[in-house]
Amino acid sequence: MNITRRHLLKMGAMAGVGLALPLGTLSVPVGRLGASALVRSPRVEPFTVPLPIPPVARPVHSHGGADHYEITQRVARQEILPGLKTEVWGYDGIFPGPTIEARRGRQAVIRQTNELPVPVSVHLHGGKTPPGSDGYPTDLILPNGPGGSQTAHPHGGHAPGGAGHRGHREYRYPNEHRAAALWYHDHRMDFTGPQVYRGLAGMYVLGDEVEDGLPLPKGGKDVPLMICDRTFGEDGSFYYPSLDPTLQEEPGVLAHAANGMLGDTILVNGAPWPQLEVSNTMHRFRILNASNARSYDLVLDPPPPGGRPFVQVGSDGGLLEAPIPHTSIVAAPAERFDVVVDFSRYPVGTKVTLRNLRGEGRTSDVMRFVVARGKKEEASVPERLAPDLDFPDPDDVEVTRRFRFIAGVGGGMSAINGEVFDPGRIDARPRLGSTEIWEISADPSHPFHMHLVHFKVLSRDDGPPGPYDAGWKDTVSLEGGSVRVAARFEGWRGKYVFHCHNLEHEDMMMMANFEVI
Ligand code: C2O
Ligand code: CU
Ligand code: CU
Repeated sequence: MNITRRHLLKMGAMAGVGLALPLGTLSVPVGRLGASALVRSPRVEPFTVPLPIPPVARPVHSHGGADHYEITQRVARQEILPGLKTEVWGYDGIFPGPTIEARRGRQAVIRQTNELPVPVSVHLHGGKTPPGSDGYPTDLILPNGPGGSQTAHPHGGHAPGGAGHRGHREYRYPNEHRAAALWYHDHRMDFTGPQVYRGLAGMYVLGDEVEDGLPLPKGGKDVPLMICDRTFGEDGSFYYPSLDPTLQEEPGVLAHAANGMLGDTILVNGAPWPQLEVSNTMHRFRILNASNARSYDLVLDPPPPGGRPFVQVGSDGGLLEAPIPHTSIVAAPAERFDVVVDFSRYPVGTKVTLRNLRGEGRTSDVMRFVVARGKKEEASVPERLAPDLDFPDPDDVEVTRRFRFIAGVGGGMSAINGEVFDPGRIDARPRLGSTEIWEISADPSHPFHMHLVHFKVLSRDDGPPGPYDAGWKDTVSLEGGSVRVAARFEGWRGKYVFHCHNLEHEDMMMMANFEVI
């Protein structure tokens, strides 16, 4: 039997039984098991390409406390591997997209135009965004222009505001949250994995006065590092094993990538194993793991004398109360780590490689720093970073919910509490202003992400939180175990998703809705 997921869903809908699938009764379509994972990217000499810094988007106008931006999503060709051109689908035709530098207390209004051949949805990851601007998976911008008439959402979901918008729409981000490194990326139902992979991702750095007042490294010493992995065909094209490479009809990937597409080439800010020359001073790095499915365990090689090269100053949700020194940084997809590295601990002339202990072969290298020159230090890391972070009080908790993330429940799909995503089913209804505890468990490992809210990790595997759980988080790796988190549902009423941020799992429906009431 070679029943595809869409057929099943259609059958389910026709039979009026909704989208809940009986677990264990489906098998992976046999014809898809034998697919080859043996595509190998063209060889690139590591540490030869300079680290690019994505351009900062400029507002087209600013008035009434709001900055207005215009971004066009389009197909372009970009030199990623030296001497080859890659077709990218990019915000303003570039990968990574332009960095948005937003300011607390000033709204950012972004008019997104879709000149791609497919529907898109834009999500600001980590943003506290009203539901109409959050990039709900079926809340689509349909392609601009003629011929863009394909099915908006093959699974029959409903965009909250009715049908999809054609050509363009405006997203409003209130930016009421404190300073944090966020990112924006595509969130189209069923096709987020391939669309992010083709380039639809960019950084969104929110600043505020508290942060301005700190002596942390600034300007050219405050560097975004968007890390992701890709595989390329011989001609330099992105290789992604979609069942339908046009991304128009059938969602899903070949069996070898069903647990996550892993690339063999590590990109930082869109360049393969790049190199950055630094002075022997402190630098601040906004590390974002923008990979579809790969986790990293990042170390510096050689380590500085005395070890612990990374001083973590911030997490997904912004500055920590106090810095935390680390020997390595373990980052699951979509997590951010804001760290300071002090290169004065190395003699001038040292080459320092950022390595990934979870990689093998070429994926165990990420990029290289060359301590190129001596310079006077202007920055420091203070002992107190942020004022009281106002974490939720477990005594205020009204509701505890449990969700279990399980991959490969049948038909290649992934589920939460035994159910695959259904845009029409609400799985939790937290009250506006209330605090809840969510207990999330996983088999095997999944990065758990909630829209709208940030949360505090209370415990991991029934013990204390792990070394990478500090601060306010919006994504946390379950590492095959469980976490308990406390979230305060503030901001807006409405429907939001929570999901696994392994994008192949997400596209295979490891996603659910909560509605703030
Ligand atoms: Cu990075 Cu649902 O998002
Ligand atoms: Cu998100
Ligand atoms: Cu998952």
